[in-house]
Amino acid sequence: MTVSVQEATSQGATLRFPPGFLWGAATAAYQVEGSTGADGRSPSIWDAFSATPGKVVGGHTGDPGADHYRRMPEDVALMRELGLGAYRFSLAWPRVRPGGGAENAAGLDFYDRLVDELLAAGITPCATLYHWDLPQALEELGGWAERDTAYRFAEYAESAVRRLGDRVPVWSTLNEPWCAAMLGYGSGVHAPGRTDARAALAAAHHLLLAHGLGMAVLREFAPSAASGITVNLYPVFAADPSSAADRDAARRIDGLQNRLFLDPVLRGHYPSDVLGDVADLGLAELVKDGDLDVISAPVDFVGVNFYRDWCVSGEPDGSHDGAWPGSEWVSFRSRGLPVTASGWEVRAAGLTECLVEADRRYPGVTWYIHENGAAYDDEVVDGEVDDADRLAYLETHVVATHAAIAAGVDLRGYFYWSLLDNFEWAQGYAHRFGLVHVDYATQVRTPKRSARWYAELVKANALPP
Ligand code: NOJ
Repeated sequence: MTVSVQEATSQGATLRFPPGFLWGAATAAYQVEGSTGADGRSPSIWDAFSATPGKVVGGHTGDPGADHYRRMPEDVALMRELGLGAYRFSLAWPRVRPGGGAENAAGLDFYDRLVDELLAAGITPCATLYHWDLPQALEELGGWAERDTAYRFAEYAESAVRRLGDRVPVWSTLNEPWCAAMLGYGSGVHAPGRTDARAALAAAHHLLLAHGLGMAVLREFAPSAASGITVNLYPVFAADPSSAADRDAARRIDGLQNRLFLDPVLRGHYPSDVLGDVADLGLAELVKDGDLDVISAPVDFVGVNFYRDWCVSGEPDGSHDGAWPGSEWVSFRSRGLPVTASGWEVRAAGLTECLVEADRRYPGVTWYIHENGAAYDDEVVDGEVDDADRLAYLETHVVATHAAIAAGVDLRGYFYWSLLDNFEWAQGYAHRFGLVHVDYATQVRTPKRSARWYAELVKANALPP
């Protein structure tokens, strides 16, 4: 399944994408907006977490970030210049319902303006309702470990969808619930920074319940929109396929990482082997009658975020950090492949494998790549950013995307992460993922060489551009 750009496009073979294939770029509210105190916004768990010494590299916070809240028209103009077909952004719950309480019209106004600006530029708005910025006041009531948070999410979703549902044609309920649950409540490397396996699994269930309740809101208030969920999927390999312990480690991690989230949504039940693996951590006891019917309401698509795959072993080496409850003996192995600035091994064929396998497990689903991208140490030299590493990453992953379509996956679009350099969560501003470089001191935007290449690709809808 490994295909190089040279192989794929040699002998004059142009890789054409289906007509109407949606090319876009993505961001998330807390990562780009800044202006965290503006227009009635309340603190989120990420404001509290990033203000806690030692939690985020360099003590960075979401403010002023890329200042997108104030520079939004300029940023939409940039997207238009790059010819993007779509823009995936998230709404900040603490702007729309500060503290998880009453609706705040001023907070919604920003998204209203953003959507109108995008539509005027001919760019399809794709909104995500939850990209990790829970109002801190709700965390103080127990956060996602509490069932009630799912119902508060449905109220927030209703405010957002009532206001924007007439103009936003594509909605995701959640972004990467695995990260929100497992990194937020399991390993504690993300907000709210809790390290409690039972709370992590409770958060997973309540996030899924929130997804299902959000789907009902979307069906009621945006009946003609395409609505679904966005998950991060990882192919998981046994370090030594002949070792039963390694194969079991791979099954466990695949279960917690991928199937724990997609089986309830697409099959209406939790995977029985995962329920067995975490039997003493209370997940099954939290599931009330009817929950799985709510969670498995039909979706129009699933968005996949792909960054890397995992190679795992059943021989512990201390590399497990609590993000996979009940699998503390599993270790994560490097294969010595080239890595991005995030330290993530690059293997583009993993993207094809991920989509083909997801499609095999869940036939009939319409898929989008909602995120794919890489951080590198970019520098502006003479007004230019020559990000050759990112360009190579992008090109090989676009080839891998095409291979998935050729293999029969109903894949409708690709969104690069990210439009702009931004706040990379616990890594602060140290990791740059953008197509567009941001100088945080001056807020000057500089499209990188990869952005110019991407613009050509979007225009041609084919590779090479
Ligand atoms: C996935 C997340 O959705 C996004 O917020 C993050 O910045 C990227 N991965 C890169 O880590």
